[in-house]
Amino acid sequence: MNSSEEECCGLEMMQKDLHATFLEMMYYLLPSPYESQETNHLTLAYFVISGLDILNSLHSVAKDAVVSWVLSFQAHPCAKADLNDGQFYGFHGSKTSQFPPDKNGILVHNNSHLASTYCAIAILKIVGYELSNLDSEPIVSSMRNLQQPDGSFIPIHTGGETDLRFVYCAAAVCFMLNNWSGMDKEKAKDYILRCQSYDGGFGLVPGAESHGGGTYCAIASLRLMGLIEDNILSSCVSSTLIDVPLLLEWILQRQGIDGGFQGRRNKSSDTCYAFWIGAVLRILGGSNFVDHKALRGFLLSCQYKYGGFSKFPGEYPDLYHSFYGFTAFSLLEESGLKSLCSQLGITENAATEL
Ligand code: FPP
Ligand code: ZN
Repeated sequence: MNSSEEECCGLEMMQKDLHATFLEMMYYLLPSPYESQETNHLTLAYFVISGLDILNSLHSVAKDAVVSWVLSFQAHPCAKADLNDGQFYGFHGSKTSQFPPDKNGILVHNNSHLASTYCAIAILKIVGYELSNLDSEPIVSSMRNLQQPDGSFIPIHTGGETDLRFVYCAAAVCFMLNNWSGMDKEKAKDYILRCQSYDGGFGLVPGAESHGGGTYCAIASLRLMGLIEDNILSSCVSSTLIDVPLLLEWILQRQGIDGGFQGRRNKSSDTCYAFWIGAVLRILGGSNFVDHKALRGFLLSCQYKYGGFSKFPGEYPDLYHSFYGFTAFSLLEESGLKSLCSQLGITENAATEL
């Protein structure tokens, strides 16, 4: 397709309406390639519903039905004393990971997961559910069972990887529920700080290679925990916690000559890092350091003609990269899109319950 044809199809523009239709289709029926991700059903739903909100298209969502559906995934302890049984009583990711309690009311197979819990609460907030009506005490008090002696979190009490992703999910849940009794903040802070690498970025675990996703989880968590200020770069307040100049240098090296952002050194640019890295810059107050025009160009090369964004230019779209494409365009202040609360991954409106 030559450039004049592109112009006439409008592919040089962000196709907000096509993207809303793409998400509406996903809202009614997820295509078969998503079958293998059924255990992450709530996360997929978060991409759809938060995406529709960013695109100003939340009117297509039946909010009461969404609330009942999300609440049906919550794991409830049979008795208050069960909160000391070492289990986590959060949200299951899907129906297939949710087993009914046994004949004594005991949740023998309780698979509730921190990432699903974050997604569940984010969705409830987006559709305007009053979170004070949520039975949230079991969530926060049992979340303590997931924090490890080094300050990190496992996502599920039966085991799993411990890294910054789940520190972030725990921090976002505590922030949205306005209850920090679920985490030892001091220990979580120490863990996050140990993840900053010699080059300024953050790895997912201490000593690991700096990574855009890990860096987002670190900076967004510190911001949610109130341990760093908003806009450190423009407010002349220097952080005594993290090395901001070194972090900024690492971040700015992530924008490639194709205009996109990579997640780590020597990797190709990928749509999702326009959010993971762009959101960190937004929190630090450094968005002006990005070449916006070049980033826009890269993102548009990943925009699919029938809606959605792909990981790399010219490929088919997927829900994950589509959502992060929308968040990236929101960070670029695309007209018609709602602005984003970068540290929560939901719109400012949803975050402040407007
Ligand atoms: C890289 O993904 C992204 C991360 C490691 C960040 C993950 C963030 C969270 C779990 C926070 C909560 C968000 C949700 C939606 C539950 P990747 O490993 O697929 O990327 P790569 O292949 O480029 O290394
Ligand atoms: Zn990606």
